[in-house]
Amino acid sequence: MSTNNKKGLLVILGGIGFVVILSYVYFAHVAKITSPFLCEFCHNTYYDYREYAYNPKPTPASSPRGVLFGCAECHRGPFREFKNSDHSKSEKDTRPGCPNCHKPHNVITAARFMFTTSPLIGITGDAMQMDSRAWDSKMKPRLDKKVRDGFLKSNSKACTDCHKEKEVDWDLEAHQIAKKEKMTCIECHFNLVHKGSPWPEKEEKKEKLGI
Ligand code: HEC
Ligand code: HEC
Ligand code: HEC
Ligand code: HEC
Ligand code: HEC
Repeated sequence: MSTNNKKGLLVILGGIGFVVILSYVYFAHVAKITSPFLCEFCHNTYYDYREYAYNPKPTPASSPRGVLFGCAECHRGPFREFKNSDHSKSEKDTRPGCPNCHKPHNVITAARFMFTTSPLIGITGDAMQMDSRAWDSKMKPRLDKKVRDGFLKSNSKACTDCHKEKEVDWDLEAHQIAKKEKMTCIECHFNLVHKGSPWPEKEEKKEKLGI
């Protein structure tokens, strides 16, 4: 190969590398999938996305990035539990959807979930089989810990974005205790929307405080 050809090849490979990196950064950080019909581009969906869609009313300025649809397709169990919750049944205009409480997956993560749990590749049992015993005994407690740690870290920001400070009934005895003990919402209000799993540490703390 002549030097000119080699140079040309390097330029092309460099260009491809650049585009790959740029796309990765885009899909992992910036992309926002806001069309519920994206999923239907490749396969059927079974649930009405409006039942769990993001509600922009409480915090109009900060609509989240990532995959905002398809929650119920991949999380059938948690969706069913949500539907039975007071939050879902509320008729208020601040009724939350899944992404009001949860940070959505980015596009790359969602795509990985879609393909690596495929029976074709031979990895099964993960999130797509949420009613299995493995889900109840292992997967759910692991994911609950992840979600709860997030709420502890953010001082339950998702909750207070919607339940504004001045609208919470601070006269409730439990809320007086919450103030005095500097406790964050999730420390008492866990297993509120989903069946969830035990949280012995916080259960003991609540019992000690008489809540
Ligand atoms: C670019 C095409 C494409 C798009 C867009 C797409 N999917 Fe998929 N999805 C696939 C393919 C291919 C599979 C693997 C099917 C298999 O191997 O069984 C899959 C598998 C799945 C599965 C697992 C099905 C099973 O085997 O139980 C779920 C759930 C799923 N997708 C949900 C979604 C959701 C929700 C969206 C929208 C956010 C979406 N998909 C968008 C192509 C796509
Ligand atoms: C394509 C499938 C798919 C879609 C669409 C999807 N999820 Fe997930 N989600 C998963 C899988 C798989 C896991 C488990 C990840 C693991 O093993 O850590 C997960 C984990 C989670 C967790 C546990 C905490 C965490 O960050 O891992 C939450 C909460 C969650 N998803 C919420 C949502 C919400 C809300 C939506 C819709 C905005 C959504 N998911 C859409 C597949 C999906
Ligand atoms: C986007 C808005 C929104 C978000 C986010 C939200 N809530 Fe709510 N919450 C509501 C609405 C609406 C109701 C129902 C009020 C009604 O209909 O009277 C409610 C009801 C409640 C109730 C009383 C009913 C019950 O189920 O016991 C509690 C407690 C509560 N929320 C705590 C929380 C906590 C803790 C979080 C965070 C994990 C949270 N909320 C996140 C809007 C929200
Ligand atoms: C120390 C425990 C504790 C903490 C921390 C706590 N709560 Fe509560 N909360 C309670 C108890 C107990 C009730 C009464 C439940 C009942 O009787 O149904 C309650 C009731 C509520 C209600 C329904 C009554 C009402 O005010 O309309 C809402 C909404 C609520 N809490 C939101 C929050 C939010 C938001 C936070 C965080 C800023 C929070 N709570 C922190 C224990 C707590
Ligand atoms: C009001 C806030 C709120 C809403 C709305 C909500 N979640 Fe959750 N979710 C939580 C909290 C808090 C946890 C941690 C477990 C617990 O304490 O309940 C959790 C846990 C989860 C988990 C971990 C495994 C499990 O089942 O416990 C998944 C997956 C999940 N949520 C998906 C969803 C999906 C999908 C929707 C919408 C259909 C949704 N959530 C709606 C607050 C919420």
